[in-house]
Formats: sequence, structure tokens, C-alpha cells
Amino acid sequence: MFKAIVFDAYGTLFDVYSIGTLAESLFPGHGAQIATLWRDKQIEYTRLITMSDPNETGGSRYYQDFWELTRAALQYALIKFDLPHGPSSEEALMAQYAKLAAFAECRPVLLQLRERGIKTAILSNGNTEMLHSAVTSAGLSDVLDQVISVDSIRIFKTSPKSYQLVLEAFSVEPREVLFVSSNCWDVLGATWFGFTTLWVNRQKLPQERIGPPPDYIGHDLSMVMQVVAS
Ligand code: LAC
Repeated sequence: MFKAIVFDAYGTLFDVYSIGTLAESLFPGHGAQIATLWRDKQIEYTRLITMSDPNETGGSRYYQDFWELTRAALQYALIKFDLPHGPSSEEALMAQYAKLAAFAECRPVLLQLRERGIKTAILSNGNTEMLHSAVTSAGLSDVLDQVISVDSIRIFKTSPKSYQLVLEAFSVEPREVLFVSSNCWDVLGATWFGFTTLWVNRQKLPQERIGPPPDYIGHDLSMVMQVVAS
């Protein structure tokens, strides 16, 4: 039996679909490509920062928090696609990012876990303030035990130090944690760390071609209940 179930945030609990919709209404014909490059660049910046300070003593000296990286990545995407924009469209997209909805099955699953007495948490690259905003606007504040941000150690997933935060938060061993993410790369990092892992493959993407496979694969969060019952 798992002692804690830990979820990635963006794309796993929080539905980022509305970002592409808003981007499309602001920049017709470009919504999908903005959303894709925005996400890719955001994650690329987290890796650049984490890898560029191999000492990692007290966090990367190049650290910028995830909100800043999210804004920088958005600016990059708009410049790359040569889309003239003012502060208002950038602010509108950032504001949307701060108040995403949860996927429909999210709250019912978290409630069922609570009823079974299983601890739940978010482990995210997001900084505490943006996570708090997202958790509140998605109406999940009362169904999560902890919201863990890598901001406290100033490096990002997939550094083992980021996953280590979970062990400290719950006093558990890695295999006692079920780590759930829609990002296969995040699941791979978590599997390497030693967590039991569930990949929520919402976008029907291929599995990573390196490393061990996830322990479980599903298409939405309802798979968590199947794993817990198995
Ligand atoms: C997070 C990103 C990676 O929440 O989705 O950490």
C-alpha cells in the first residue's frame, strides 16, 4: 500500500488546454504552436539552470523561479513566431496560467484517496505562489495534504534533490510513493529516483526511448484508483 500519492501539477492536475485557446483568440492561427513552444522552452530553461551549476550547493546560482521562466518562455515563443504583442496579451496569457482549471476527474480522485486515508501532494517546478493560485482557482485546497515546490531548493525536476523533497515531507521510502505525472520525462526521472510511477498519457504520446518504463500507464487520473486497488 502506498503511503503517499504525489502528483505533478501542470498538465497532470491542471488543464493547460485553455492556454492554447486563449493564445488562438489573441493570435489567430498560432495558438497551438505558441502553446507547444511555450511549454517546451519553459522546461528547457529549467534544465538549463539545473545543469549549469553542477555543484548545486544551496541551489543553482542561476536560479530563476518557474513563474519568471514561464514568462520568459512565452516571450521567446511570441518573438520566434514574429507575433507583435504588447504587455496586455502577455499579461492575459500569464494570468490564464495562474488560474487554470483542474481536469474533471481530479477532485473526485483526490476525494477518494482522502476517504481511504492516503496522503496526497503536489510536487512541482512551480513556485509556491503560482501553485497556491492554481490550487485555489481549481478548487483543490481542501483535498491535498501538501503542496511541495522545488523553489525551496532552487533547482528543478528531474534533479534527484527535487524528488527527495517528498521523502522529507512524508518520512517515507521511495517505493512507498506513487508518483503521477502526464510528462513521461518526469515519470522517468521519478522512476530512476526509485518512486513507483504512473504515467498519465493524456496526449497519447510515445513512451521515452531511454530508461525503464513507468510502473503503470493510464489515460487519465482514474487510473490512480485502479493502481491503488491492485
Ligand atoms: C510541474 C511541471 C513540470 O508541475 O508540469 O512541475
